[in-house]
Amino acid sequence: MKHIKVIDLLNNTKTLQEVTAKGWVRTFRNNQFIALNDGSTINNIQCVVDFENTAEETLKRITTGAAVSVTGTLQESQGKGQSVEIQVTKIEILGDSDAEKYPIQPKKHSLEFLRENAHLRVRTNAFGAIMRVRSVLSFAVHQYFQEKGFVYVNTPIITGSDAEGAGEMFKVTALPLDGSAPRNEDGSVNYKEDFFGKQTNLTVSGQLEGETFAMALGQIYTFGPTFRAENSNTSRHLAEFWMIEPEVAFNDLAANMDLAEDFIKYVIKYTVEKCEDDLKFLESRLLEEEKSKPQAERSEMSLLQKLNFVLDNNFKRVSYTEAIDILKNSKPNKNKKFNYIIDEWGADLQSEHERFLVEKHFKCPVILFDYPAKIKAFYMRLNDDGQTVRAMDILFPGIGEIVGGSQREERLDVLIEKMKALGIEEEELWWYLDTRRFGSAVHSGFGLGFERLVLFVTGMTNIRDVIPFPRTPQNAEF
Ligand code: 4AD
Ligand code: MG
Repeated sequence: MKHIKVIDLLNNTKTLQEVTAKGWVRTFRNNQFIALNDGSTINNIQCVVDFENTAEETLKRITTGAAVSVTGTLQESQGKGQSVEIQVTKIEILGDSDAEKYPIQPKKHSLEFLRENAHLRVRTNAFGAIMRVRSVLSFAVHQYFQEKGFVYVNTPIITGSDAEGAGEMFKVTALPLDGSAPRNEDGSVNYKEDFFGKQTNLTVSGQLEGETFAMALGQIYTFGPTFRAENSNTSRHLAEFWMIEPEVAFNDLAANMDLAEDFIKYVIKYTVEKCEDDLKFLESRLLEEEKSKPQAERSEMSLLQKLNFVLDNNFKRVSYTEAIDILKNSKPNKNKKFNYIIDEWGADLQSEHERFLVEKHFKCPVILFDYPAKIKAFYMRLNDDGQTVRAMDILFPGIGEIVGGSQREERLDVLIEKMKALGIEEEELWWYLDTRRFGSAVHSGFGLGFERLVLFVTGMTNIRDVIPFPRTPQNAEF
């Protein structure tokens, strides 16, 4: 008999029909009640076993984690919290699970423990919910751009350029690194002899390639894996993360901000509507967690209130210069808000500053723009003041930077000048410069760190908990 997904069974009002469900046992109470989960929903279906007519041997094998196939009659449930249950007539154990050895016990495990069991943690309520929300969010990303006529571009994962100029790349090589690789006279590895005939890296951003496509197709977006070898062991950084990078010809910085805000609101709204049960579960999980915190540190809003707040309010647009004034006047020392005080225009903002602006000062998402040229990438459009660039970062409560973007420098001479100053070889980026040589135009784009968005929507606090198998320093177990 064809099995029916648990989510469909639970929404089914046609009781008294015979059904089959397949899934994994979450709990088995009183030798009678199986809570069965198949991943289609956070909710389990209760399967009532006729223990008097079931072999002792079979009952023993209904253990937490076991895969089972259950056939029986769908009935209105007497139990509270569920509409229907299955009165079991036949149960088949598909895969045993030794209850003593199964790492995921029917109790609350620490997130640290679950990280070490990333292959099994997805069988818990929290991770099931997070991964379904993640999936719906990615669908919403595609739906948003596709509805607006953007072209989805797959930019290369192996690249020969450093888009961000931050030198945080993982090298890709086919050369033996045991010392036998061909060497240059100075002893360095001779990448000309390597597979691609030059040194290559895992991409840190698809932007530069994306720009070339925007200058032909008008509006494009990428959505793919991105790699950064930055050694920041924080709850916001991954060595491998997914980035969404739209790029639009003829958009200036203001239009770029409008697009980013509209896009973020769309995907959050879509997910709030589609993932009601999962978000409710994550919200209650969070409330539970908040209870263990001192009153002063507790969040004023619940998860759904936070999400709705973002949907209902305009992002505050503030220039870097205004932000620095606010930070300077916030007397950080007295309240010990910052370890690092900003007293100079031109300094880069640390995440504690970003969070102060968003969480304490404006109390809403903030778009910071017109940053000092010195602290931003080479490709950003220089303003007429000669000091600032048309950059924008979007800062979110609890997250900090969620988006980084800019209007691009479309003037060939200014761009080359900028590259020279930063020691970026023209020959390295000849193809990129061609977009400015032939039919250059104003254009803008941004990158949204997908995991940071998932963090925000799920209310989780560590980025390692919103990607299936996190890659961080000293951690690539799976
Ligand atoms: O600010 P970033 O470095 O910008 C770029 O890469 C541009 N090329 C984007 C563009 O304009 N097309 O990165 C963009 C976003 C950040 O705002 C952050 O959300 C995320 O990517 N991000 C990371 N997420 C997780 N782990 C990391 N190590 C991240 N580094 C950046
Ligand atoms: Mg950035």
